[in-house]
Amino acid sequence: MSVKANIYILFLLELALPFFVLGDNMDQPILELEHITYTYPEVKGEFAINDLSYKVYAGEWIAVIGQNGSGKSTSAKLINGLLAADSGRIKVAGEVLNAQNIWEIRRKIGMVFQNPDNQFVGATVEDDVAFGMENIGVPREEMQRRVYCALEKVRMSAFLKRKPARLSGGQKQRVAIAGVIALSPKILILDEATSMLDPKGRSEVLQTVKRLKEKKNLTVLSITHDLDEAANADRLFVMKEGELIESGKPEEIFVQADRLVEWGLDLPFSVRLNKELQRRGIEVPLGFLTEERLVNWLWTSILRK
Ligand SMILES: Nc1ncnc2c1ncn2[C@@H]1O[C@H](COP(=O)(O)OP(=O)(O)OP(=O)(O)O)[C@@H](O)[C@H]1O
Ligand SMILES: [Mg+2]
Repeated sequence: MSVKANIYILFLLELALPFFVLGDNMDQPILELEHITYTYPEVKGEFAINDLSYKVYAGEWIAVIGQNGSGKSTSAKLINGLLAADSGRIKVAGEVLNAQNIWEIRRKIGMVFQNPDNQFVGATVEDDVAFGMENIGVPREEMQRRVYCALEKVRMSAFLKRKPARLSGGQKQRVAIAGVIALSPKILILDEATSMLDPKGRSEVLQTVKRLKEKKNLTVLSITHDLDEAANADRLFVMKEGELIESGKPEEIFVQADRLVEWGLDLPFSVRLNKELQRRGIEVPLGFLTEERLVNWLWTSILRK
């Protein structure tokens, strides 16, 4: 084969490579909701979830935002089978959730809730992380290995023998995450998992999850009222009255400042700062959205001049 032909083939391969690498990601959602509806039996006639459909791909970080009562927590409970949908289908890694496979599917989904104090069952950090594995009969040695490994990942190995009650809020949530990670889930659902933490604890937990997402290609569905956290997500789902009313990249959602107010949401700090700078005649280019990116831009383009 001529050199020219070789180069041509290499060129074609290079063009096709992203499709091979991303193929799995692009075709097969790790989580799929199809026309889900749910009404709590106590409040007949009022949808908590109304025709909710979306797709999430492996390795994505999705932030679910929306006013109080918009159905965020209910949707999370439907995904891991704590509640059963009235109609519609939920697919996890291609499998339709049903009464037969619910336990198997639940193992693919880890959930961490808001209150760090309500999530402990073990007397020590070690026991606590082991608890989920004891339930599914993981052999003792394997269990110990996984406990150490999970605590290592959330940087809490030094606290193995400590009592959970003695930890800070951020440390407690990291232990809760370790308990979930030890079961090797594909999807991690955080339901306001950082909302009771101080800024340091919040940042510790988010950094931990971010590292896990990157290392293990973990998919994260984070229900949050923290719009600064949401600004760092790959995509946002906006919920209102049980429906998905908008989805897209943070920069696409947060530029619609007027609609955010209409949806009952605040503006993230970076958007407020951006607006304020514009009001003072400093044109910030579109796309500089997260606080970090905005600060970097200000630093390199304005303050150093
Ligand atoms: N256990 C329950 N019984 C009856 N109704 C419920 C129950 N839990 C939630 N609801 C109702 O379902 C709707 C959705 O509630 P959900 O808790 O999913 O909202 P949310 O978006 O998580 O809100 P928040 O931001 O306050 O956590 C609301 O109208 C709520 O009042
Ligand atoms: Mg909720």
